Amino acid sequence: MAIQWYPGHMAKAKREVSEQLKKVDVVFELVDARIPYSSRNPMIDEVIKQKPRVVILNKKDMTNLKELEKWEQYFEEKGYYPVAVDAKHGKNLKDVEKAAIQATKEKFDREKAKGLRPRAIRAMIVGIPNVGKSTLINKLANRSIAQTGNKPGVTKQQQWIKVGTSLQLLDTPGILWPKFEDEEVGKKLSLTGAIKDSIVHLDEVAIYGLQFMIEKDLEGLKKHYNIDVDEEAGILEWFDAIGRRRGLLQKGNEVDYEAVIELIIYEIRNAKIGTYCFDIYKEMKRDIEHG
Ligand code: G4P
Repeated sequence: MAIQWYPGHMAKAKREVSEQLKKVDVVFELVDARIPYSSRNPMIDEVIKQKPRVVILNKKDMTNLKELEKWEQYFEEKGYYPVAVDAKHGKNLKDVEKAAIQATKEKFDREKAKGLRPRAIRAMIVGIPNVGKSTLINKLANRSIAQTGNKPGVTKQQQWIKVGTSLQLLDTPGILWPKFEDEEVGKKLSLTGAIKDSIVHLDEVAIYGLQFMIEKDLEGLKKHYNIDVDEEAGILEWFDAIGRRRGLLQKGNEVDYEAVIELIIYEIRNAKIGTYCFDIYKEMKRDIEHG
């Protein structure tokens, strides 16, 4: 079930997450590595404020690694500690603890200087739906704890999970809302499965994805569908070629466009065609700096 976000829910989610943040030394801001900027909550800086932050770019297995590096650098320049992981397959998870140690070093050095006893670093995960919060918690805990959460904010009954030797993680993540206001962001969120309902028109999402691949990975696209469409061709010709090749036809041998749209979105969401990062740092840099 998709979450419906209303202003009241958003205010409540923000309040609840802010309250939980008081308990932790460091925040793990979880984003989708295919859209490291577009999958952030629009008010995240207001929520996290000055607290040390590790930005976890999850679903590393599904993205373009060169582009991912640029975003890691971007987050580092902002003063955060970026880590790219693949929570589903348990890759690079040790880096999370390392980053948490680095991010909280100053604070713990201060505590030590004051003569306070050493203690575990406390952390919580925050992010929009479907970026992999529950998957990551379960992997870090080495057992199944977090349910695929669909309740905004934070669930009430909470426990600390021991991770590695120096970390304690809240077993329930903070769930915040995605960006709604920008149409292009909406399409990217849909293409990556962060939004699965009909807030955005699926035909526009499929066209957006197709255009992205034509521009960035023409050969990969042609090879995947085993079709040869002219570079200058219109989108409809691509739909036709894909539909015919895959036998997505209806009465009268006409291409079933709805089926083609569904297929394209499914294959992009599941990284069947290629591993893409839809947030291109170079193209977004100016807007980000002025936004
Ligand atoms: P959430 O708590 O943030 O809402 O997200 P959740 O963990 O439920 O993950 C959302 C989807 O993303 C799940 O897929 C999950 O398996 C997948 N996922 C999480 N991390 C990774 C990753 O690093 N790599 C890949 N490839 N996928 C990841 P699903 O389709 O909802 O379920 P399922 O197909 O895994 O059963």
